[in-house]
Amino acid sequence: MKKTFAVGNWKMNPVALKDAEKLFLAMESKARGMTGVEIMVCPPFPFIAPLAKFAKKIVLAGQDCSWSAQGAFTGEVSPYMLKSAGARAVLLGHSERKKYCKETRELVAQKMSIALEAGLKVIVCAENPKELAVTLRRQKGEYAGRVIAAYEPSYAISTRGGRSVSPGKIARAVKDMRNIAGPGVPILYGGSVFAETAGEIMREGDADGFLVGAASLNAAEFLDIVAEAEMG
Ligand code: PGA
Repeated sequence: MKKTFAVGNWKMNPVALKDAEKLFLAMESKARGMTGVEIMVCPPFPFIAPLAKFAKKIVLAGQDCSWSAQGAFTGEVSPYMLKSAGARAVLLGHSERKKYCKETRELVAQKMSIALEAGLKVIVCAENPKELAVTLRRQKGEYAGRVIAAYEPSYAISTRGGRSVSPGKIARAVKDMRNIAGPGVPILYGGSVFAETAGEIMREGDADGFLVGAASLNAAEFLDIVAEAEMG
């Protein structure tokens, strides 16, 4: 059975630590006993350290990190700090970072290098296979086994019941990304994955799992999606 992945990106939610703890604990208790699927959650930065004490089955990941290890960069968060706070991975290159923070491909590639150097796994988002190729080409070291790529067409994000990507299109993009990234780099799909669509995407889209936004704010729905990923 192939190893699969389910990554929940909470984005800028929830606002209060007590709600983050409640959500995370509900996920942890439901996730116990699930095998063959690696579950990751990306909470907002300030919640990583307090949630780390509860993280047994679920791996914590940052939603972004700096391009630099440390220094005079006000507001930035070093990948080394993420690691020290209890994160084991970081999400990079999300389309919302590109849209609202004007992140470029060069910057994403730089962040990826320093995050790998810090010993974090990287979940790197790409709008299409070509973008993934550009980001990976800029990596000097070996990244197989330490990088997970996510096919994330921005037009499909946050569109419950709206515009979606056909499983056939997902399968073609996943195949191209697999060829680009090579062995040891799982390819996920992200963009309005919900409990009702996850099964079809998993079966026909041929991805190694999901990157989930909105549905990861509901423990029961997220774990239903994790179960679909686990079935492969
Ligand atoms: P969504 O977000 O599931 O809410 O569409 C996915 C993402 O932004 O990665």
